[in-house]
Amino acid sequence: MPKERLSVVVTRRLPAEVETRLSELFDVTLREDDAPMSRSQIVEAMKTADVLVPTITDTIDGAMIGQAGERLKLIANYGAGVDNIDVATARQRGILVSNTPGVLTDDTADMTMGLILAVTRRLPEGLAAMQSGNWDGWAPTAFLGGRVAGRRLGILGMGRIGQAVARRAAAFGMQVHYHNRRRLRSEIEEDLHATWWDSLDQMVARMDVISVNCPHTPSTFHLMNARRLKLMKPDAVIVNTSRGEVIDENALTRMLRAGEIAGAGLDVYENGTEVNPRLRELNNVVLLPHMGSATRESRVEMGEKVIINIKTFDDGHRPPDQVVPSML
Ligand code: 8YV
Repeated sequence: MPKERLSVVVTRRLPAEVETRLSELFDVTLREDDAPMSRSQIVEAMKTADVLVPTITDTIDGAMIGQAGERLKLIANYGAGVDNIDVATARQRGILVSNTPGVLTDDTADMTMGLILAVTRRLPEGLAAMQSGNWDGWAPTAFLGGRVAGRRLGILGMGRIGQAVARRAAAFGMQVHYHNRRRLRSEIEEDLHATWWDSLDQMVARMDVISVNCPHTPSTFHLMNARRLKLMKPDAVIVNTSRGEVIDENALTRMLRAGEIAGAGLDVYENGTEVNPRLRELNNVVLLPHMGSATRESRVEMGEKVIINIKTFDDGHRPPDQVVPSML
């Protein structure tokens, strides 16, 4: 008798080729429109599905996992960060969690460099001048930014993406520094020309650019709090392509307004789409709508990772990208 196909519920529209392949392999329920599912719709889906495929826009908390049906055995997140999922409760309930690391590394690192350049070289102000039609022509002192070559970049979180940022920054002539829970092996440090700081405070106080590249976990929540932001040099800038929760957004906004920090480039926000309105008023701030991994290639490859994780699980093995609480 042929094996019963796994029932898979996907919470958002995914690239067409990913949806097609999912439909070929599994008994899949896809979204007809791209609106996120409500909490109660997800809870209902979790009662009957074998596998749930959520994204960052879905919070899968302990209470929801507690109501999951006996069949739910895998939450295959479409995304690298799993801070939207209560991984510990899932584990207690015997539900595996997987993610999609690696395939969005280059694109997110590119966007980090994009933000560093956009803030330090004032790209939005140049763009606004051109779009307004009021550009009077070149002037020796117009739109002066700061040179990135020779500047000190402090990377907070030296995982895959942090290391990819380090390589790019070195190619731009920046001096690379980093803080990480664990120091990298000396060969990797040498390869990246990266200097390790045991003390985040000391690193923050000496950098020209800070890049947040660590995941959001209970121990990184507000790692860049008001006290630490105040340690930054007044002419330094901060960029974040990781998770908004790592920076105290209100404290950052206050300091940007007061000129205590020179600029910021943000792709992610502390409260999802609820961006502090005062951030929008500042011309030393570049805001993007969480598009660090938004390339066609990343989004298809993330889908392929989801499929491999589900298929491997279906074949009776551990998904290659299983996430367990001790990794967080
Ligand atoms: C994803 C991200 O596109 O993968 C991540 O952790 O932050 C994004 O770039 C998003 O999370 C999709 O769920």
